Amino acid sequence: MSGGNAVSAGKAVSGGGTAVPSGTSADRDRVWTVLELLRWTTDYFERNGIDTARLDAEILLAHALEIDRLRLYVDYEKPVLAEERDRFRALVQRRASERVPVSLLLGEREFWSLPFRVSGDVLTPRPDTETLVEAALSKVADVESEVRILDLGTGSGAIALSLASELPHATITATDLSKPALQIAAENADHLHMGERIRFLAGDLFEPVASERFDLVVSNPPYVARDDEASLPPELSHEPEMALFAGADGLDVIRRLVAEAGDHLSPGGWLLFELSPEQIETAELELRKAGFSEIERRFDLARLVRVVGACWQPQ
Ligand SMILES: C[S@@+](CC[C@H](N)C(=O)[O-])C[C@H]1O[C@@H](n2cnc3c(N)ncnc32)[C@H](O)[C@@H]1O
Repeated sequence: MSGGNAVSAGKAVSGGGTAVPSGTSADRDRVWTVLELLRWTTDYFERNGIDTARLDAEILLAHALEIDRLRLYVDYEKPVLAEERDRFRALVQRRASERVPVSLLLGEREFWSLPFRVSGDVLTPRPDTETLVEAALSKVADVESEVRILDLGTGSGAIALSLASELPHATITATDLSKPALQIAAENADHLHMGERIRFLAGDLFEPVASERFDLVVSNPPYVARDDEASLPPELSHEPEMALFAGADGLDVIRRLVAEAGDHLSPGGWLLFELSPEQIETAELELRKAGFSEIERRFDLARLVRVVGACWQPQ
């Protein structure tokens, strides 16, 4: 997982303030403009401990009005109709009181400039994971080549489909232990007209590709430490446990991934995976122990180590 994985200490829901312009008859009779609703909601979100209060208010209002977010700025003084306010109120309530992430309220998130459908069955793809896509692309010398790629733990299909969009002749396999997640990934592939490009397989890590080798193995595995659970943001409780947690120190899946990857890489092939910055030393140790060389680190937008890569050159 990623995410701002950069998971900051969670803030409990404080439930500050009254309910969203409440829908009482007095409220329904009052005229609310776009700007007034944005101000009210931003304040309400802030009092409820939401860090991205203004941004979330804008995205949800634009969604309720079925317009582009930038259009809100043009429409600041425009009155919002009662039924539009009702739609908006329902979204605002779920965001503030249940701490449902905006991506799940909308059912969609952009990644690598592509639209991905998301639900409670998949991790919402995070911007940090684009570091992994960039790292993978940097290992492909010729974008026209028929490079064989495996994306382990594909979730919404974000990594596999982003790579497919950049590498027209790549052969891409995407696996996940979660069948509901694979269903969403397959729907995303169809929606992006890449259904024919990806082979989706269900199973535990390399088990569905037991006798196969690849030029690139990429993964954003679950890597949140169970030991950190109490301090996680409440939003994470809406994402699948299987996508987040991997043992007490978060390294259970990474250890297995590193130990087994050599049997599935062609000579000169690369293993690249995402991790939490404090896991990098252990991950590098495991990679050396497993016989990998040319170990390299990649950094996310916050300049934190987010991805490690290593080459498989058996002696
Ligand atoms: C952190 S999410 C990443 C999802 C997606 N690749 C992304 O970057 O947005 C990890 C994914 O790995 C899957 N997973 C967890 N354990 C697994 C295992 N042992 N074998 C295969 N997939 C697994 C989860 O179901 C989840 O979809």
